[in-house]
Amino acid sequence: MQTAAYPASSTDQTSKVDGYMDRQPDGTPKSPPQEQKNNGSEQEEQKSVEKTNSSSNVYSSGIPAALDEATMSQPAPSASEGPQVESMQSMQEAGSAEQQQPSFSTDKPAPSSSEASSRSTETQQYRNTGRSADNFRDRQLRKARLVQLLDLQRKRIRPADHTTKGRYGIQDFDCLQTLGTGSFGRVHLVQSKHNRLFYAIKVLEKRKVVDMKQVEHTCDERHILSRVQHPFITILWGTFQDAKNLFMVMDFAEGGELFSLLRKCHRFPEKVAKFYAAEVILALDYLHHNQIVYRDLKPENLLLDRFGHLKIVDFGFAKRVSTNNCFTLCGTPDYLAPEIISLKPYNKAADWWSLGIFIFEMLAGYPPFYSENPMKLYENILEGNISYPQYFSSSSIDLMNHLLQRDITNRYGNLKDGSMDIIMHPWFRDISWDKILTRKIEVPYVPPIRAGMGDSSQFEAYATGPTNYGGTENPEFTDIFQDF
Ligand SMILES: Nc1ncnc2c1ncn2[C@@H]1O[C@H](COP(=O)(O)OP(=O)(O)O)[C@@H](O)[C@H]1O
Ligand SMILES: [Mg+2]
Repeated sequence: MQTAAYPASSTDQTSKVDGYMDRQPDGTPKSPPQEQKNNGSEQEEQKSVEKTNSSSNVYSSGIPAALDEATMSQPAPSASEGPQVESMQSMQEAGSAEQQQPSFSTDKPAPSSSEASSRSTETQQYRNTGRSADNFRDRQLRKARLVQLLDLQRKRIRPADHTTKGRYGIQDFDCLQTLGTGSFGRVHLVQSKHNRLFYAIKVLEKRKVVDMKQVEHTCDERHILSRVQHPFITILWGTFQDAKNLFMVMDFAEGGELFSLLRKCHRFPEKVAKFYAAEVILALDYLHHNQIVYRDLKPENLLLDRFGHLKIVDFGFAKRVSTNNCFTLCGTPDYLAPEIISLKPYNKAADWWSLGIFIFEMLAGYPPFYSENPMKLYENILEGNISYPQYFSSSSIDLMNHLLQRDITNRYGNLKDGSMDIIMHPWFRDISWDKILTRKIEVPYVPPIRAGMGDSSQFEAYATGPTNYGGTENPEFTDIFQDF
């Protein structure tokens, strides 16, 4: 969670800049075999889509079978919170049946000859024919209804005073294995001695937090996570501290990191990438409407729950932005927006840039400005030249071009319509946003775990770390961390 030093120091063991080397995809091509820099025609897109579909790359080499298109209709296990699952195909059929009756749950194809056409051209084309005018009206109606639904979610905030301070301690949990390591400590799988349920506890060593000048970020992480309430954001149940450490008790996301899944698959089919992107977009939309910028979007911080839905973790860089401007250089190099690298004040638009990188990385298996040399990476980001692999569809490229805009006044997500420009983009035309939000949608991949049993098989194995928590002698920094 340390603020990344710029230029990246190769000797700084703890910075996310160095963590960058861990991000290198196994056996992933350093550069794509065939690339395209411009948006293709619809015909080209058709070809590229066919290519993607027939490509064996995604489905070969020990990949979880569940990501095969053929098995994508597996229903998620039902549970108390489990939604009624519908297959993507049935959603699409439902969409065509609904065509007389405008609904925001299905996007009809834009009438434009190229999906890559700009929004204004698209609008113009809608206006040019009577039928298109209907489509345009439908679209506006769908949009308005979706905004209504999103508004409901955006207002859900947990009360400020539900603190567990002083009520629990590490003695209330059995500390099991390590799920992940962070800059300040570890994340452990634990089991409550009271209700026998499993949780993840993030442990931060107070001294390290102080030495690395991350006190404010850590307090923000606790504060923000304790207030947010969203289907795709992890729940923080409580925090406490011992003499040397801070503890954050969260839901255990049993399905592991999206990062691990992506590395196993090398890259995701468009349909899969779209699903994960959609869940991330709704979470970012929620955060931004609550004046929170996330600042660390990347597949390592996106976990899968037992049903295969995303849970965003790691709010170590999240910040409330009442003034709309941040100055701190933080994040993970591959995902840094150019305005952050050039040390300009920045805002929530930086998250939408990261979304563009995320979509690219899911579709290609490597991020767009990738370089082994961190300085070159920053140069690539500032230059902003992107080589899109041949197999990318032109509508995906169009969306990424709008997100990976160096000029934030042109960047999607940061324009007058906010996140709606992204949500209504043609790439998402087959996404039912209301179903995504309510989780009433079939997931592309259900993690193979024994749910509720403390199954950590989807996480890397870590050497046993320190578990001598709970000390009371010589408590440190209690005044600084008095909220914990
Ligand atoms: N709620 C959770 N459930 C399961 N694993 C988690 C959870 N939170 C974090 N982890 C694991 O621990 C890793 C590090 O946690 P994170 O909060 O991202 O720390 P850092 O800020 O140091 O990156 C994550 O990448 C993930 O693998
Ligand atoms: Mg992290």
